[in-house]
Amino acid sequence: MEKLSLRIDNIFKFVSSYSVESYKNEAERANTSLHDKSGKGNDFLGWVNLPSSITAAEIKDIQDIADDLKKRVKIMVVVGIGGSYLGAKAVIEALSHSFAPYIAEKDAPTILFAGQNIGEDYTAELLEVLEGKEYGICVISKSGTTTEPAIAFRILQKHLISKVGKEEAKKRIIAITDKERGALKTLANNEGYKTFVIADDIGGRYSVLSPVGLLPIAIAGFDIQKMVEGALLMEKETAADVKFENNLACIYAATRNVLYRRDYTTEILANYNPKLQYFAEWWKQLYGESEGKDNRGIFTASVNFTTDLHSLGQYIQDGKRNIFETVITVNKSKHEVLVPTTEDDLDKLNFLADKPLEYVNKMAKIGTMLAHVDGGVPNIEIEIPELNEFYLGELIYFFEKACGISGYLLGVNPFDQPGVEAYKSNMFALLGKPGFEEQTKLIQTKIKL
Ligand code: PA5
Repeated sequence: MEKLSLRIDNIFKFVSSYSVESYKNEAERANTSLHDKSGKGNDFLGWVNLPSSITAAEIKDIQDIADDLKKRVKIMVVVGIGGSYLGAKAVIEALSHSFAPYIAEKDAPTILFAGQNIGEDYTAELLEVLEGKEYGICVISKSGTTTEPAIAFRILQKHLISKVGKEEAKKRIIAITDKERGALKTLANNEGYKTFVIADDIGGRYSVLSPVGLLPIAIAGFDIQKMVEGALLMEKETAADVKFENNLACIYAATRNVLYRRDYTTEILANYNPKLQYFAEWWKQLYGESEGKDNRGIFTASVNFTTDLHSLGQYIQDGKRNIFETVITVNKSKHEVLVPTTEDDLDKLNFLADKPLEYVNKMAKIGTMLAHVDGGVPNIEIEIPELNEFYLGELIYFFEKACGISGYLLGVNPFDQPGVEAYKSNMFALLGKPGFEEQTKLIQTKIKL
């Protein structure tokens, strides 16, 4: 069977293979401590066995609700931020038609997102689009208290109830949250909304294989069973007893840390398939929020090639040499489009006549990777055979596992995010939230300065 593969030979011009192998024991130990829960953040390791522990009954429950909603609504608004939206957005964008808004007949509801920003125009324009449409809301917040989705949900819940009444709204609103804590749980109980639980031991950015990701993905019409199967394969292939040499998550984690210690402090995730743009956003959050702490961590960035070869490509080729690149390759396209011949050959492209775009794209990728290595940018390549639910499941679990291992190699707790609180308390102080009176006074003096 074809499966995900990892190539690191393009780093050996910069670091020795020995430096990667020397991580063997440390990486295997880090992996073991994810499984035996002996490392930092060990109360947030529920995701490690998520693909093997999710039951057929749980998948059916998610699928049944998705099927019911598919009959009731044309649009589903998924409300959430950070780990409570990026996984679903990444998978749905990767699997959807590139021009989905222009396709008249669809077999599944269109998924729109809200609560991932506080944009007033965004919200107003979303309400404009929802006007007169059959829509539902899936509100996702583990804490149940995050400001951005809470504001969006207030607005949308009110709007929906005003259009369809409380009883019908009850059938169209689903809440995914903590099993007992938080305002969202209380609200869902009071209103009688169907809820799914985010387990206590699963943090937001590791939650895409739980109902947080699976429900929106199922509503969008994609096969969540296949996604879990792909993740399960990777769970087995990166298990604690799989030795470093065969364990792709250990090798990727070690490679990143070797490069980081040689001052390659920025990792750019590059793709050559525009459907992966949001997958990169999910990846940036996963690694950035997991590792960027204690004044350490690789800065995560992303580019869409060949588009960005005409923008950030210049910097990558020639700018400050602290960058390494991880390229995600999708081996096979779903469609074939050939370059046509023209009689006058004005653009001098007849030499490409009858070649599929995939071939041109592949040559662009190989050429770029070589140029980047020559320009001083080590690169890593991760390849999946094609873009479907199974391989995305595999890729997601691979990145999650490698992130946990990599965070431990770096010496941080990859499962907390203490830095996120700083903006929140300033924002609450500025907004005059009750209980923040002292901070309000303090911040006002700072602003005056
Ligand atoms: O990864 C994380 O934990 C965060 O990105 C959270 O998912 C994000 O802050 C949203 O939190 P919540 O689901 O509690 O609303």
